[in-house]
Amino acid sequence: MFPRTRVAPFLAKIDNQRLREIQKRYVDSTERYAKYADVERWLKINLPRVQNLKLDRSPPKQILDLGCGGGFFLFLAKQWGHGCVGLDVGDFPLSNELIDLFGIDRVTGRIRAHQPLPDLGQFDLITAFSAAFNRSEDESRGWNAEEWKFFLDDLDRHLKPGGILAVHISNRYLDLVPVVQQAARHLSLEVRQVENDDDDDAGVYRSDWMLLSASPAAFEGKLLKEAAERIDAVPRVRLWTDDYSDVYRILK
Ligand SMILES: C[S@@+](CC[C@H](N)C(=O)[O-])C[C@H]1O[C@@H](n2cnc3c(N)ncnc32)[C@H](O)[C@@H]1O
Repeated sequence: MFPRTRVAPFLAKIDNQRLREIQKRYVDSTERYAKYADVERWLKINLPRVQNLKLDRSPPKQILDLGCGGGFFLFLAKQWGHGCVGLDVGDFPLSNELIDLFGIDRVTGRIRAHQPLPDLGQFDLITAFSAAFNRSEDESRGWNAEEWKFFLDDLDRHLKPGGILAVHISNRYLDLVPVVQQAARHLSLEVRQVENDDDDDAGVYRSDWMLLSASPAAFEGKLLKEAAERIDAVPRVRLWTDDYSDVYRILK
């Protein structure tokens, strides 16, 4: 339907006059998320996310994106007919404007420890990219294992049977595979890894993922079987918590 790696067709689908007007207002802004005004760059970062999950080749799915920000990922996913809902705090004016520009259906709410997500229906796929919602109320620490367990059990309620949780782990300096692998073990979830290489000519950046599911059958579909690899190695870190973490062991 669209060339696999170019964002021009997607840029052409938005109101470019309105986008330029937004960009003019944010060009010198020091607002926290002003970087998202560079819509072309963020579409280039989000296109591989869509492609790695084979959303450019799969039948329509229901997708929930946690901490969806400006809605880049959902905007692209929508182009292939997927049903998309975002959840975010709605505190950032630029993100709100982009959500509106992209025509994204977003629920405003804050993810908190030990609080279930609002009732948004059931999804085939729940994603979260760079969304640091896993902080304690006073922001002093990340969630502990028990808080993650509550969150993931609650997510399970929002996933259709065989649903998949996709964790984006691209990082230039850290190998987060064993960290997620150990968390999956602790939570008795199946885990697979997906890697997508750079394509400089096409302006596509490398992107790495881990997919988690309560059901091994979730990975049996043809597309995911091809793309998602089992990880046989024993994780080389203990369960990552506030009491235990060892960055040196996961340096690349
Ligand atoms: C770095 S931005 C990433 C935005 C988007 N996921 C992306 O990749 O472009 C982090 C987003 O997470 C949202 N966020 C942070 N804490 C959250 C929470 N507790 N509940 C919901 N959203 C949260 C922020 O408002 C922000 O939009």
